[in-house]
Amino acid sequence: MNDFTYHVPTKFVFGRGTVDEVGDELAALGHTCALVVYGKGSVVRTGALDRVLTSLDRAGVRHAQLGGVRPNPEVGLVRDGVAAARADEADVVLAVGGGSVIDTAKAIAVGVPYEGDVWDLFMKKAAVDEDHKLPVACVLTIPAAGSEASASCVISNDELSLKRGLSSESHRPELAVMDPELTFTLPAYQTAAGVTDMCAHIMERFFGSTGPVPVTDEIACGLIRSLMECAPAAIENPEDYDARASIMWAGTQAHNDLCGLGRNAKPNGRAGGWESHALEHELSAHDPSITHGAGLAVIMPAWMRYVWRSNPERWLTFGKLVFDIEPVDVVEDCIDATPEEAVEDAVLVTIDEIQAFFCDLGMPRRLSELGVTAADIPALLQTLEQNKGPEIGEAQRLTMDDCRKIYESCL
Ligand code: NZQ
Ligand code: ZN
Repeated sequence: MNDFTYHVPTKFVFGRGTVDEVGDELAALGHTCALVVYGKGSVVRTGALDRVLTSLDRAGVRHAQLGGVRPNPEVGLVRDGVAAARADEADVVLAVGGGSVIDTAKAIAVGVPYEGDVWDLFMKKAAVDEDHKLPVACVLTIPAAGSEASASCVISNDELSLKRGLSSESHRPELAVMDPELTFTLPAYQTAAGVTDMCAHIMERFFGSTGPVPVTDEIACGLIRSLMECAPAAIENPEDYDARASIMWAGTQAHNDLCGLGRNAKPNGRAGGWESHALEHELSAHDPSITHGAGLAVIMPAWMRYVWRSNPERWLTFGKLVFDIEPVDVVEDCIDATPEEAVEDAVLVTIDEIQAFFCDLGMPRRLSELGVTAADIPALLQTLEQNKGPEIGEAQRLTMDDCRKIYESCL
C-alpha cells in the first residue's frame, strides 16, 4: 500500500429535504451573492430551482442566474458565466444539476480571476489563480459524474472538437447538498448512464498498475456490488428512496479518490490509467448528444478485453470480489484445459458479466448504437492524440494503433 495524502474538504448535507437548506448553508459559509447555474430545464420543471431560490431568499443570499448548460458542457456558456459572475459580484458559484452543470460552475469559478480567455486554462496556457478563484457549491440532481466532490472539471470546445479536463484540488466544491428525492424524476437511461459512469470511475482506478491494496479493493468492489443491487431497483421503482440514496452516495465515493488510496497515483493524486475515459471523451466531444456513461458502457468492456492479459491477477481479484467467479481448478476437477485457459475463461466471464450488467440497465453494447461508424475513428484518434499524446494508459500503454483497434472492436 503506497503512502498518500487525502483531503476532501467538501461539506456534504445529505438527505430528504436538504435542498431547502442550501441558503442557510451558504450564508453560514459567509456568502452573500450566488451565481446559480443550471441546465436545460429539468430543475425548472421539477421545482428544484424554485426551492433553491426560495432558500437563498430566506437566508438573505442574493442571486443571479445562468441556465442552459447542456450535457457535455461547452466553453461558450462558461464565458457567459464568467461575465455574469463578475457583473453581479458573486462570491460563490452554485450549481443546481449534475456533472455538466457542476463542471460549468467550476470553470466559471476559475475563469473569474483570469484576465484572458478561460479556455487558456484548459489548454494549460495559463495556471489557475488558486488564491482568487471563486468557491463552488452544488445541489446535486443526478448522481453520475461525481463532480460534487471530485478534483476534475471537464469542458468541451465545439469549435476545436476538443473535450478537456482541468484537474485541481481546489475544484472540490466547498458544499454539496445531496437530496436523493431530487433524483426521483431521472429517466431510466440517465440513471443507468450515471451508474455506469460510477462503475467506470471505480474500475479505472482498480485496473491501474498497482497490485492488491486490500482495504481499497474491498471498498471499490463493495460499492460496485451495492450499485448492482440498487440500480435495477431504482429503474424498476424511480421513487425507491433507499436505492436512490445508495446510488447517490456511491457516486460520490466512486470519484472522490477514496477508491484510489494506496495505489500508484499521478502527481495530481489520481490513481489508474483512465484509458476508457480518454477513449470515451473523444466520442462525446465529437458528438455531444452521446451520454458519457453510455459511451463508457461500450468502451470499457472493449478496453478490458484488449488489455486484461497485462495484469490477469487484477481481473481475477475483481471477478472474485464482485461476482464470486474463480478459475476452475483444472487438476482437481479433471478439466481438459490448461491453468492459463482456466484463468482466461474466468476473466472473460467476468468482463461479460460487467457488460451484461450495463446492457441489462439499458446501456448500449456497440458504438453503432451511438451513431459512431468506422469513418469516425480517424478523427477520434486525431483529437485523442492532441489531448493525451501518442500513448495512453498505465497497466498497459496503448499506442494510437491500439486505440484504433479498441474502437474497431466495438463498432
Ligand atoms: O439539462 P437538464 O434539463 O437539467 O437535464 C439533465 C441532462 O439532460 C438531466 N437531469 C439532471 N438531473 C435531472 C435530470 N433529469 C430529470 N431529473 C433530474 N433530477 O440529466 C441529463 C444529464 O445531465 P449531466 O449533468 O450531463 O449528467 P452527468 O452528471 O452524467 O454529467 C456528465 C458530464 O460530466 C463529465 C462528463 O464528461 C460529462 O461532460 N464528467 C465529469 C467528471 C468530473 N467533473 O469529475 C468526471 C466524469 O468522468 C465525467 O467525465
Ligand atoms: Zn466519468
